[in-house]
Amino acid sequence: MKAIAITPGKKHSARLVEAEKPKVSDIKDGRGALVQVLQAGACGTDREINDAEYGTAPESSDYLILGHENFGRVIEVGENVRELTPGDLVVATVRRPCGTSIYDLIGQQDFTTDNTYYEHGISRLHGFWAEFYSEDEDFLIKIPPAIADVAVLLEPLSIIEKGFKQARDIQTRLDIWHPKTAAVLGTGNVGLLTILALRLRGFEVHGFGLDKPEGYLNAELCKAIGATYDSTLELSVTDSVEKYGEYDLIFEATGYSPIVFEAMQTLAENGILILSSVTGGDRHTDGVPSDLINQEFVLGNRAMVGTVNANREHFELGVKDLALAEAMYPGWLSRMITHRVKGLEGFAEVFDILENGSANKAIKTIFEVSDI
Ligand code: BGC
Repeated sequence: MKAIAITPGKKHSARLVEAEKPKVSDIKDGRGALVQVLQAGACGTDREINDAEYGTAPESSDYLILGHENFGRVIEVGENVRELTPGDLVVATVRRPCGTSIYDLIGQQDFTTDNTYYEHGISRLHGFWAEFYSEDEDFLIKIPPAIADVAVLLEPLSIIEKGFKQARDIQTRLDIWHPKTAAVLGTGNVGLLTILALRLRGFEVHGFGLDKPEGYLNAELCKAIGATYDSTLELSVTDSVEKYGEYDLIFEATGYSPIVFEAMQTLAENGILILSSVTGGDRHTDGVPSDLINQEFVLGNRAMVGTVNANREHFELGVKDLALAEAMYPGWLSRMITHRVKGLEGFAEVFDILENGSANKAIKTIFEVSDI
């Protein structure tokens, strides 16, 4: 079968390879499903792996098949598969419990404390930029046909759902928490999905991005669902408090770490800040008013949490939000998929769009591997 692979440690090594087609019997105890990939998403992580910033091949291979955002159709199942039948639409989760930490052992591998982790298309497991994959049904999320057109967005959404779940769990420290206002920093695909998920929960939402709003699709998408959009060139997050008040919840998705310190200063009492950017650089931030930030966090009982990866329950929450979004804001999610590349052969174009995202006005780029 065709797949897109990289050689770890080698810059810009992405290429089309002919890989062995997986089989249902590759998965033990008859619990496997063979899945035909219909669509696969691309994100900054894929670009960083192709830039050789990280990425590890499986032990038995000298290359890594890329891709972790996925959507496919089951074409064959093993004899002990209970919940799936051929024809079902599915999305696979990303991380597997192959480590030794207690969290791997209890199926909460998204909270692993191991430094070595196993993620499809990222670390030690082949990914989904391929024609097929086989997987244990435990890691496959069933997708209602009504949301087939947008299900490729489920994986990025699952990270956000995990962030919200953690925020809710942490806030059970308060007997009453009725958050009303939220700021979302960054309006790329994660930021926009966060804005959507918060609007579905009834929040007053304020999105912030770098670009000026005029003619900017991301800004238009914010407004289309009743959120505001401001360019931080015109209104800083710190100054936005004068206009919108302090925020009960802030979600950071810019990839620019200094903004975290601004966010910390705009959080309301008892509020919570969720961080989602994987910032691989070595930036140091001068001029941070650390005494003030620390004091406000202490006196205001403020909280901050990171969110990475997601487990089955977060994907399942995401399925419900995708369905609700299609009902409340029909067509909005599809507008986020700005670039569709036919066939895996178009991988060079996908990387070009990832490199020059804003010049290409890209929000989400996907491969259409096979017809839905
Ligand atoms: C993926 C996560 C993964 C993280 C770190 C993200 O792009 O969506 O599933 O845990 O990268 O590798």
